[in-house]
Amino acid sequence: MNADPLTDNRIAFDSVAADYDGPSGNNALIQQLRAQTMAAVLRRVPAGSRLIDLGCGTGLDAAYLAERGYRVTATDWSPEMVRRTQQRAASAGLAQRLEARRLGIQEIAQLPATAFDAAYSDLGPLNCVPDLEAAARGLAQVLAPGGWLIASVIGRLCPWELALFAARNDWARARVRFARGPVPVPLNGHTVWTRYLWPGEFAAIFRRAGFRRLEQRGLGLFLPPPYMDAFAARHPRLTAGLARLECGLGGWPVLRGWGDHFLMVLQLAARP
Ligand SMILES: C[S@@+](CC[C@H](N)C(=O)[O-])C[C@H]1O[C@@H](n2cnc3c(N)ncnc32)[C@H](O)[C@@H]1O
Repeated sequence: MNADPLTDNRIAFDSVAADYDGPSGNNALIQQLRAQTMAAVLRRVPAGSRLIDLGCGTGLDAAYLAERGYRVTATDWSPEMVRRTQQRAASAGLAQRLEARRLGIQEIAQLPATAFDAAYSDLGPLNCVPDLEAAARGLAQVLAPGGWLIASVIGRLCPWELALFAARNDWARARVRFARGPVPVPLNGHTVWTRYLWPGEFAAIFRRAGFRRLEQRGLGLFLPPPYMDAFAARHPRLTAGLARLECGLGGWPVLRGWGDHFLMVLQLAARP
């Protein structure tokens, strides 16, 4: 473990970049979560808009959106992830609409003011930022007035995880998501410092930076969390039923605050 969480996180994500498109980063359960985030972007933001992907990983989402006519700047703190995104853009012939660059979310204010119509962040990059308050202020600068933030964020109350670790009598593990600050989460023999968040905590941080919460739903609420993909594969009918439940009930009051992740749509106030 390094002294600096950002360095630990970079090393950890660099180490998984080569295999990320397989079961570790894009298994069938993850694809169901990803689909919800992409649907929210398509619903809220017109094609042709300028998007910034915060924590793009290997560029799966960025390529998906560039193929649909968006102009995407894909950013990540891990140089290996950025390299994979650049390769994807080149091999898919998307280089005109998809630019990948190394940039931490904590560095976002370095970008030109009002450069983007919307930002999205899929599957937890915003949980890895040491000072999310400062990042929210930076994001408010680089978005145009009325700009969108569509984020899937790792939540605190994951019913499956609680049940799983309670059944194993592993209360230390069951409690991990309720820690106050960032906690060290193992990844591929390395450490990712992760700050779990309630949706209300997340919305409050962004409200102070000028954003308003418009939509929220639980992800991985009825569906098991991504690390239970072997279980999901053994029970395809159950998993399909749970996916339908999640689709129908994931936006309901109370339930929308639970899940492995939550999806939130926020809008920056239009300046007078
Ligand atoms: C779980 S992956 C999700 C990747 C991608 N959004 C996806 O949906 O496949 C988390 C990503 O966040 C990136 N990340 C972690 N900390 C970051 C930071 N401070 N700034 C930008 N990216 C970061 C990691 O390098 C990794 O690519």
